[in-house]
Amino acid sequence: MEIFGKASGTSRYLEFSSKELDQNLLTWLRSRGVTIASSCDGAGVCKKCRIQNEWLTCELTLKTFLERCPEGKIIVDYL
Ligand code: FES
Repeated sequence: MEIFGKASGTSRYLEFSSKELDQNLLTWLRSRGVTIASSCDGAGVCKKCRIQNEWLTCELTLKTFLERCPEGKIIVDYL
């Protein structure tokens, strides 16, 4: 999985296993040390955890994200 920060113009690459596909994307990213903004802690209210300028990480699993974005590139505006 590539994490691309638009603000910095840099990417990080994270490995994942098939066992992690059902994990919440926000939780997974945080567990890997990626700082994702949130003021509602995953309640789907604040909209700060947005990626691709469209989807909320707190409302996606890894699997759902990869179905929508098979290349596995997460784009975060503020990173
Ligand atoms: S964490 Fe607030 S909407 Fe996702």
